[in-house]
Amino acid sequence: MTEREQELIRLAEEEVEKNIEVVESDPYRLRYHLIPPVGLLNDPNGFIQWNGTYHLFYQWMPFKTGHGAKFWGHYSSEDLVTWKHEPIALAPSEWFEKNGCYSGSAVEHHGKMVLFYTGNVKDADGNRETYQCMAVSEDGVTFDKKGPVVELPEGYTAHFRDPKVWKKGADWYMVVGAQSESLTGKVALLKSSDLKEWQHLGAIAGSGMNGLGDFGYMWECPDLFELDGVDVLVASPQGMEAEGMKYQNVYQSGYFVGELDYASATFDHGDFVELDRGFEFYAPQTTLDGKGRRLMVGWMGVPEQDEDKHPTIAHKWVHALTLPRELKWVDGKLLQVPVEELALMRKDQLVKKIDLQLSGDGIELEIRESKAFEMSLSFKDDVASFEMDLSDTIQLIFDASERVFSLRRKSFVTGEWESRSCSLQELSELRAYVDTSSVEVFLNSGEEVFTARIFPDGHAAGMVTVSGDGTVGEMEVWKIEP
Ligand code: FRU
Repeated sequence: MTEREQELIRLAEEEVEKNIEVVESDPYRLRYHLIPPVGLLNDPNGFIQWNGTYHLFYQWMPFKTGHGAKFWGHYSSEDLVTWKHEPIALAPSEWFEKNGCYSGSAVEHHGKMVLFYTGNVKDADGNRETYQCMAVSEDGVTFDKKGPVVELPEGYTAHFRDPKVWKKGADWYMVVGAQSESLTGKVALLKSSDLKEWQHLGAIAGSGMNGLGDFGYMWECPDLFELDGVDVLVASPQGMEAEGMKYQNVYQSGYFVGELDYASATFDHGDFVELDRGFEFYAPQTTLDGKGRRLMVGWMGVPEQDEDKHPTIAHKWVHALTLPRELKWVDGKLLQVPVEELALMRKDQLVKKIDLQLSGDGIELEIRESKAFEMSLSFKDDVASFEMDLSDTIQLIFDASERVFSLRRKSFVTGEWESRSCSLQELSELRAYVDTSSVEVFLNSGEEVFTARIFPDGHAAGMVTVSGDGTVGEMEVWKIEP
């Protein structure tokens, strides 16, 4: 480790130490979601199960609640439920990463954990350079930086970042989020036989390609994987205009399903579908675990979307990661299901109701003692409308005649109600994970998901009312304690 690296790590640790109390005293500090110990967290990075243990890194700015020269923070877990905060994995100490160890991924090779990340470099005038770098670990805790392994290929601007690496047959592949010289968002594909020498095969998707029209000026954080017989490309395009219910956030994350032809480096794909319909979701990353599951975690935030207005900033931290979700490809649909291990967090059962008749009046549920809980509802097919009011901050609304599901939230900026919606043919099931300042709603076995940060007043937290027209076949609520 260089002296500069030691110094940066020491300063970051000091910052954590100094602010522990103020962060921990925040009533909005999440109980069972991953947050930074201090400062700003953004993208999940390097998600991998290595030697049986899950490792999940994150983009981290320890010194302020804004963006800057990022570190890689590090959590590990045996069961995706209980997480241990590990020592800092990467600090932006060297010339090739001096303005940030930006997002990237992890693979296992010859028993070692190998990280790929973007070395972000800016000169005094703000001109950017980008290096895709490698770091290797034998113990999963300390990382030996090997420096840049990929220089910027021709045809792109320096907005070329977020390498995601995987193995196919005997070869390694990498997708990188990119911007072409004509300022359109792209995903670049590279290939290597040894992880060190990389060959650029070309752009496989992007704005103006494969039947897409104008599709943004930059694509961040790509991920490409096989899922139950199809190839899925996840990406976070920037610069999309809102269109009806779609693309309502400042930036979005979504996926294309298709087939990657490795020999010709072409990806034939269908439409872009947003992964999450809520307010805060971006830059997700997946990994294949030992049980053969494709797991995904996202950032519960969006770049430049009121990031400086989150109430937690008063307590010196901002943002969180989503719960881990298992991806499934079923009957032409991508499903996101909260991982089954989350059931380990269930403590007391707070509510159990069978054949609950909904009415316009509303039924209040007795879960006010808890600010962290899980709800599961299954519906009979007579539901014409459903509404759930949560903590005086969130409303979940299904309108069967319009076939639209909406999540309304009291804005943490203006206090006004704001809304996100998607079309939904029917409502058969709803699962919600509520934490002190977040909610994740899964509909119909994960067919649609809404993620949002919420900041309820203390007295309203855990106040839940359901109303509507129809029958809830079964409703259960559990208190969550990690
Ligand atoms: C996405 C992103 C990435 C970049 C990282 C920097 O949120 O902008 O493209 O690597 O965050 O923190």
